[in-house]
Amino acid sequence: MNLAIVFFLPLITTYYFPHVTTAGADYSSSPSVLTQGSSLSVEKKDHLVSPNDLFTAGFYEIGQNAYLFAIWFSKPMLDGNHTLVWSANRDRPVNGKRSSFSLSRRGNLVLTDVGQEIWTSDTQSNSTLKLQLLDSGNLVLTKLENNSYLWQSFNFPTDTILPNQPFTKDTVLISSRSSTNLSSGFYKLYFDNDNVIRLLYRNNEITSVFWPKPWVLSWDAGRSTFNNSKLALLDSQGHFVSTDNLTFTTIDYGDALQRRLTLDVDGNIRVYSLNHRSWRVSWQAISKPCAIHGICGPNSVCTYNSESGRRCTCLHGYKRTNHSDLSFGCEPLHDLSRDHENYDFIKLPNVEFYGFDYQYMEKSTFKGCKKACLNNSNCKAFQFTFSEKLGSFRCYAKTLLFNGHHKDTPFHTYLKLPKSQVLSYNQLVASKSGSYCSSSTVQLKRTYEKDSANGSLKFMLWFNIVLGVIEVTSFVFFYYITRQPSGTTTQTYLAIATGFKRFTYAEIVKASNKFREEIGRGSGGIVYKGILPDNRVVAIKQLHEAVQGESEFLAEISTIGRINHKNLIETYGYCAEGKHRILVYEYMENGSLAGNLSGNQLDWHNVFEIAPGVAKELAYLHEECLEWVLHCDVKPQNILLDNNYNPKVADFGLSKLFHQGVTDNSIFSRIRGTRGYMAPEWVFNLPITSKVDVYSYGVVVLEMITGRSPTYDQSCDDNEKLELKRLVSWVKEKVHEDWESLIETQIMDVFNPMIKGEYEKRQMNGLLKVALQCVREDKDDRPTMSEVVKMLLHLEMDV
Ligand SMILES: *[C@@H]1O[C@H](CO)[C@@H](O)[C@H](O)[C@H]1NC(C)=O
Ligand SMILES: *[C@@H]1O[C@H](CO)[C@@H](O)[C@H](O)[C@H]1NC(C)=O
Ligand SMILES: *[C@@H]1O[C@H](CO)[C@@H](O)[C@H](O)[C@H]1NC(C)=O
Ligand SMILES: *[C@@H]1O[C@H](CO)[C@@H](O)[C@H](O)[C@H]1NC(C)=O
Ligand SMILES: *[C@@H]1O[C@H](CO)[C@@H](O)[C@H](O)[C@H]1NC(C)=O
Ligand SMILES: *[C@@H]1O[C@H](CO)[C@@H](O)[C@H](O)[C@H]1NC(C)=O
Ligand SMILES: *[C@@H]1O[C@H](CO)[C@@H](O)[C@H](O)[C@H]1NC(C)=O
Ligand SMILES: *[C@@H]1O[C@H](CO)[C@@H](O)[C@H](O)[C@H]1NC(C)=O
Repeated sequence: MNLAIVFFLPLITTYYFPHVTTAGADYSSSPSVLTQGSSLSVEKKDHLVSPNDLFTAGFYEIGQNAYLFAIWFSKPMLDGNHTLVWSANRDRPVNGKRSSFSLSRRGNLVLTDVGQEIWTSDTQSNSTLKLQLLDSGNLVLTKLENNSYLWQSFNFPTDTILPNQPFTKDTVLISSRSSTNLSSGFYKLYFDNDNVIRLLYRNNEITSVFWPKPWVLSWDAGRSTFNNSKLALLDSQGHFVSTDNLTFTTIDYGDALQRRLTLDVDGNIRVYSLNHRSWRVSWQAISKPCAIHGICGPNSVCTYNSESGRRCTCLHGYKRTNHSDLSFGCEPLHDLSRDHENYDFIKLPNVEFYGFDYQYMEKSTFKGCKKACLNNSNCKAFQFTFSEKLGSFRCYAKTLLFNGHHKDTPFHTYLKLPKSQVLSYNQLVASKSGSYCSSSTVQLKRTYEKDSANGSLKFMLWFNIVLGVIEVTSFVFFYYITRQPSGTTTQTYLAIATGFKRFTYAEIVKASNKFREEIGRGSGGIVYKGILPDNRVVAIKQLHEAVQGESEFLAEISTIGRINHKNLIETYGYCAEGKHRILVYEYMENGSLAGNLSGNQLDWHNVFEIAPGVAKELAYLHEECLEWVLHCDVKPQNILLDNNYNPKVADFGLSKLFHQGVTDNSIFSRIRGTRGYMAPEWVFNLPITSKVDVYSYGVVVLEMITGRSPTYDQSCDDNEKLELKRLVSWVKEKVHEDWESLIETQIMDVFNPMIKGEYEKRQMNGLLKVALQCVREDKDDRPTMSEVVKMLLHLEMDV
């Protein structure tokens, strides 16, 4: 065993700290400026480095004997790869021999491949020039006389813009072809003629705008067409402003993070923030992956669920064009241009193909629509939908089946196929009882049972985690090694690698002063105050005895370690020794929201801080955090407040830790207590999606506003019980969410008289409406958490 440690330790250390040992030395020898008449050569791996060491410009190997002249972040990511932010020749890589990048005496930048010119900046000047890489990541050709730029890479972005890099009428972003092929791909971000920033899909045959939604007027999409200066900028704090009125703020707004905005291979724009040498998504333009056009190619339907991600499925009667590249879509097994007597249709329920209607008929009949499609050999399918506005059916005949996706509304497509195919489809459907094109709803694994004795619900929640192989391995090492009574150096290294410290039980006992000061009883455990040897005040949560194995516990902890947001409680470490399972985390001065509510310690200002804070964190868990996590237990007890009353959410993802062997009363009351916050899906045994958290969130906000607890309180006497209606229906009776503006007396009716201070009526009105949308019965009617964040941010700005 000791041998194993000796063997692996050097591996781990170099793995995590390669920069310190090798890279630093490398860079110091390289020039920081390229002067006229000199060049960078591919063989010598010449490169320029920005003064702050953040960026490097030079030849970057993208494949065997294929190099780009590029700019990248100097530090490699955890997977060892570098992140490119710009390249000169993405579509024409050069050889690994006799290629060079030079600044000519006449002032031209030229990239050559064995003497052949591949790329040039097309500049010339009589003044003295130098090429340098700035701290911002901008590669600039500077005139020495007055420091003006003759050329700069910021004017010619590829798929990424960096903070403070202007995006203008003359710039476009083009996505890469794939994650391994960096040449120009299908998606383009640009300022359109009407001054609006748009996303476009284009291939050799098709162009299709999809963002903002083409069927929504720019105005309704929140865009303005009036300002023709066409300028957009992401600042280093994470705030984006554009002259078409597109503005957003990243979820981790603030200083000190390196960011980039990239048009990704999948056609989505994302802002990434660098965090522990990996990129985290802090904003994205499109939340529904299947809303991106062209993503599955022609004759294919896009489906998405959070477990398996996006999938492209060929239509019946079609086969995949290229198995290694989904974007080529599918091709027919039959020839539609032949004899049209022999065709019939199959119904694809709730499937829509956007665009490419060659014929549109109002007040159509199904028969007429069918006939029109049969009559035209180019017709591939038709859509037949009822229009409430017209009071009749509409028929769209399609020559091209593109952008296929599922739609919740009754929106059916009828696919034209040879009769033999229709027959085989019907047989297939009969045998699979209609599983084709079944609902795309996300369904999480869970068990559900009703406890007949007291009618309370007992449930167990799962969230899906795919553990990165690296983390698993490092964790196994971690666990394995720290079990040995080895030196403290080992522990420190590994604590850095995983972000957590492992405490011994003795240390915990000491820190908590033998569990003297209890500060709360949360779900699944008792929380004590403690002080670490370095004088940090911490909360120590002793989980109820769980039958969970140590490795499961560690896996869980490792998940928590990778979830990171300023509105999440920070975990410092843990203890897993014998039967003890203990978490050590940030101590929150002001306790839980529940405590503050019952102690009447909040003012309205706090409420308007807490509501968006919690929303941002949940949005992060649901959408930004790359491994989709449901909290499933959002309630005031799990929302803690720091000394500035900033909310932090605790206990996410821990639901699995204490589900087994729970019989004691405290656990039962926990489950019953949470009942008021549970979405109707639980009760009706419907699929559990992230919308359950949206519901619980809505209840928490209503609870803050009204001061009424949604939980069933056993202590109140019978009279009170009769009075006590369910919080949600009580509020819904008092105010209607579709009322344009609530009048003062209605707000007075519901608001919590115990909360101190003045409130802005408009803000209150808005908050109440958002909360009511969150607690709608049908999960599809509820907004997503990121939509909630947007609405709340609007409220803040309005005031
Ligand atoms: C890292 O780069 C190599 C080739 O340079 C590639 O095969 C691998 O997929 C990359 N890893 C990631 C996570 O992109
Ligand atoms: C450089 O100088 C030459 C001769 O003096 C002149 O003809 C040319 O226009 C100048 N070029 C630039 C870019 O100023
Ligand atoms: C710098 O000098 C060039 C002429 O060499 C001139 O065209 C340019 O406008 C000057 N730029 C500034 C910022 O003064
Ligand atoms: C990358 O994609 C381009 C465009 O589709 C293609 O021409 C090129 O061959 C691809 N390169 C590699 C290495 O697959
Ligand atoms: C831009 O957005 C702001 C805030 O949402 C709004 O007040 C303003 O009217 C918008 N401007 C235009 C021209 O749409
Ligand atoms: C357009 O936007 C720019 C930058 O925000 C602003 O300076 C300018 O005044 C705007 N122009 C008009 C006509 O609104
Ligand atoms: C499929 O696509 C890949 C990548 O673009 C390409 O290399 C390959 O030749 C294609 N295969 C076929 C059969 O077209
Ligand atoms: C079928 O197509 C022919 C021309 O190709 C046209 O004259 C006829 O009206 C069409 N019939 C129907 C029912 O659309």
